[in-house]
Amino acid sequence: MASSGTKPKPDFTEAESSAWVRDMFARVAPRYDLLNRILSFQVDRLWRWRTARILKPWIQPESRVLDLCCGTGDLLVALESATPARYLGADFCFPMLVLTQAKSGAPLIEADGLHLPLRDNSLDLITIGFGFRNFVNYRAGLDELLRVLKPGGRLAILEFTQPPNSFVRGFMKGWNRWVMDPMGRLVSGQGDAYQYLPESVSRFPDAPLLAKMMREQGFGEVSFRYFDAGIVALHLAQKSL
Ligand SMILES: C[S@@+](CC[C@H](N)C(=O)[O-])C[C@H]1O[C@@H](n2cnc3c(N)ncnc32)[C@H](O)[C@@H]1O
Repeated sequence: MASSGTKPKPDFTEAESSAWVRDMFARVAPRYDLLNRILSFQVDRLWRWRTARILKPWIQPESRVLDLCCGTGDLLVALESATPARYLGADFCFPMLVLTQAKSGAPLIEADGLHLPLRDNSLDLITIGFGFRNFVNYRAGLDELLRVLKPGGRLAILEFTQPPNSFVRGFMKGWNRWVMDPMGRLVSGQGDAYQYLPESVSRFPDAPLLAKMMREQGFGEVSFRYFDAGIVALHLAQKSL
């Protein structure tokens, strides 16, 4: 059964891994915001606000903006407070969407980012905060994002990454092991989830590699910038005109 065990097993199919991830997020949803605030000392909020500020020049009131993997809605809310647009949130985990609904009036869809129920060439901007690394197939995910973006549309992926500095990398490794894992276990009661989260970061391509992957899948104008010594990276890209 995909939802049991401490992490997606190597012999899981993509559908089983995806079901495991969805179930894990459903279990942590009630404590997700609280744990984010505790484990990041509120810095996670600054990352989302900073992202919203960087994206602001690309967002017009008539822009159709999808916040994919919206979770409990924090990036969506940061975007909405930065600038008006026609926002839409999507996540494949229903309990997360319920929490978003309490914060945002944007229409929400329960959907997998790998199979979006949206027309080709229909969005001006897609944002993904701390969700992309959970995709079971990154290249297929990028293909799907490219499909629904309008020509000239933009993609912004805010995600944990491997800090380029080895001291910071070592610090983060220790933080995850000695702080995040026990604290996550204690507050959420879901030990496997807070084991999975750092593991998913260490498996995720580092920032230069993700940028390369985005170019290979057909995105143009690919760039990234690190926030806070490279704990997270914001990748930006554009679908060619
Ligand atoms: C770590 S939370 C991030 C939520 C929010 N964007 C934020 O900034 O806090 C990741 C979210 O991605 C969602 N997610 C993961 N894989 C997904 C997929 N393939 N399709 C849709 N949602 C997905 C999870 O359900 C979860 O709500």
